[in-house]
Amino acid sequence: MKTIRTIRAKFKKLLVKFYLLMSELSSVPISTLIILSSNPIHESYRMSMFKKLRLGLRMYLNTLHITTGTSYRAHLVMASKIMAIPPDILGDIVECGTWKGGSATNLSIICNIVGRKLKVYDSFEGLPDTKPGEPLANKNLKGAFAGMIDEVISNIKRYGEIECCEFEKGWFDDTLPKLNSPVLLAFIDVDLESSLHTCVRWIWPNLVDQGYLFTDEAAFLEYVALFYSEKWWRKYFNRNPPGLIGAGSGLPLGQYFIGPWTGRLRLEWYIKTFEEPIVVAYTQKNLSACWTYYPEDEEQ
Ligand SMILES: C[S@@+](CC[C@H](N)C(=O)[O-])C[C@H]1O[C@@H](n2cnc3c(N)ncnc32)[C@H](O)[C@@H]1O
Repeated sequence: MKTIRTIRAKFKKLLVKFYLLMSELSSVPISTLIILSSNPIHESYRMSMFKKLRLGLRMYLNTLHITTGTSYRAHLVMASKIMAIPPDILGDIVECGTWKGGSATNLSIICNIVGRKLKVYDSFEGLPDTKPGEPLANKNLKGAFAGMIDEVISNIKRYGEIECCEFEKGWFDDTLPKLNSPVLLAFIDVDLESSLHTCVRWIWPNLVDQGYLFTDEAAFLEYVALFYSEKWWRKYFNRNPPGLIGAGSGLPLGQYFIGPWTGRLRLEWYIKTFEEPIVVAYTQKNLSACWTYYPEDEEQ
């Protein structure tokens, strides 16, 4: 009896997995066309509808081949922004936090299309020790999300475009202060508040005016708060906070997500598959998210 129940449960799980794979696969063309049509792609990149569909499918399949913390839809959102910018605007694409190279592989494909460099920053030995004062300080996370540099390079060689890639191995505190070239789009996916702080602090001055700073830390309010912190932006850049599009609204870019994300496995795993916040959000230099309405001040 117990064996029959176990077989039935296994079969059910297999069936649901198959259904999920099929529904995800069948949504690739529509997701790709919706996301890649949301910004006009610059004509010099010659992206026909067929090329867009092939790109979306390639990116989706890559996320099946390489374990990744982000979705191909999130990668397509970044692609749509990069391909909307004319080639004469200078700037590299920067990724901070690569793990096994899943997102970097898809970004390398975009870089190849638009003729830009992809600079990949990582320790290539996983997360560092947390720093005193950050919320995850007493969790033992050192070494989590480790992807060795050889593994990342071999993934990109196999599934992406290695020619446009450069790798900067080391802790962000050591490598990023040396960044001294224009950045068109940065993708920051680094898990720790201390790492997010370092990345934004050193990338922002290099970001070109039309550029984008994307982050994966969009589902956690403590992290989103950096982009709204008047104190932080005043202290480091003497400006108003820029805010973060795609975060905090319950409708992050490119993914189903109702939220809030608690990080606990409360939901059935098949719902979790759809609701996992493998999403991104972005900001830009010209944005300002500062509350200015104080009626009492007006009355004085
Ligand atoms: C969640 S993983 C990145 C996932 C990847 N972007 C993807 O979509 O599959 C976080 C990465 O950040 C790196 N990382 C975090 N903090 C770092 C730091 N201070 N210096 C160097 N690497 C860091 C870790 O080594 C890890 O590879």
